[in-house]
Amino acid sequence: MEMNGLHRYPPTSDHSLQVVSAADELLLAWAQEQPPARRGTIVAHDRFGVLALGAPAPTHFLATFHSQEEALRRNASADRYPQVYSLFDTLPDVDRALMRIPKSVDLFEVYLSRLAAQVTGELTVAAGFMTRHFTPRWLEVANRYAAAVTQTRARKKARLLLMQEFRPAGPQVPWSEVSYAGKTYRQYHGVFSAKHIDYATQFLLGEWDSFAATLPPPAHILDVACGNGVIGDQLLGRYPDARLTATDDSRLAVESARLNLPTGRSRVLYDHTLGEIGDGSVDLVVTNPPFHFGYENNLDVSLGLFQQARRVLRVGGQLIVVANRHLNYRTHLERWYGVDTVRQNEKYVIYRCDRRR
Ligand SMILES: C[S@@+](CC[C@H](N)C(=O)[O-])C[C@H]1O[C@@H](n2cnc3c(N)ncnc32)[C@H](O)[C@@H]1O
Repeated sequence: MEMNGLHRYPPTSDHSLQVVSAADELLLAWAQEQPPARRGTIVAHDRFGVLALGAPAPTHFLATFHSQEEALRRNASADRYPQVYSLFDTLPDVDRALMRIPKSVDLFEVYLSRLAAQVTGELTVAAGFMTRHFTPRWLEVANRYAAAVTQTRARKKARLLLMQEFRPAGPQVPWSEVSYAGKTYRQYHGVFSAKHIDYATQFLLGEWDSFAATLPPPAHILDVACGNGVIGDQLLGRYPDARLTATDDSRLAVESARLNLPTGRSRVLYDHTLGEIGDGSVDLVVTNPPFHFGYENNLDVSLGLFQQARRVLRVGGQLIVVANRHLNYRTHLERWYGVDTVRQNEKYVIYRCDRRR
């Protein structure tokens, strides 16, 4: 897993996954060939800090995920630690940006809108991708923000999209609305399931009352991987005396959930390990867990969260998981919990997992 002294984080059990991709190499080679950036370089969607630590200094790191900030912290050294910005900060007025194109086209748009909002002079954005992931939707988005959009030749199955002549953009992070059960949820672009509430989540919430009668009413609920906060919000409606903690690895999700959840009864943490939540402090954990890491299908993250959920649950508390059936989480969950399959249809399954000791 090691390359140039850098490591993937979160660690993965799949040893075929590399820390540096051909798209990163192409971006770094391109940056080396250019005249020095006069006003510095912003890097975006750099999951492990490969671009921020490999491109000519000074670099500024645009952080989208809590786990990404931890990856940078682990890989950086005292003499090379880029300045970190969030998507909600005013960005420095640089003349160059390097990014990996994310799987979410909406998130790609968020990056371009944030860069366009800060630009006063010339800006060149180089966006790297593996050619097998190419979609013409990237060009539609790129052309909305930049008047000059070109592509380089492919090298090792990677290519760059080069964007210049940016049009001015407003300071707002783009957002949209989704409705569920008579309520409207706001979410920033790039948050999971933009057009409708996720169908697994709808299955969980639709079935909740049919199996939850046997659960003791919770005083403290934890919504892990909360996205726009819809699960936690709907459960607060069902349990009027409960308070909620919600967590997500994505800054855009956290800020969306903060727009949607009642402030007096909830807190939303930008977090990827449940690290800030005390042992045995939660009565009920609910999750529709992540099973992708970018383009990779990856259960390592969700299995880590299930294990942490056991730690934060009180003895006698429950973890409720909704997931695609084919992921077969049950065999994993049985390592830590007493597991009951409470509902399933042809696509999704709901597990009730009891912390017994
Ligand atoms: C399947 S979505 C569910 C979102 C939301 N609960 C819903 O039902 O719409 C999974 C969420 O997991 C988040 N995520 C990924 N890794 C995470 C981690 N280590 N800790 C917390 N959230 C994480 C993603 O940002 C995404 O919002």
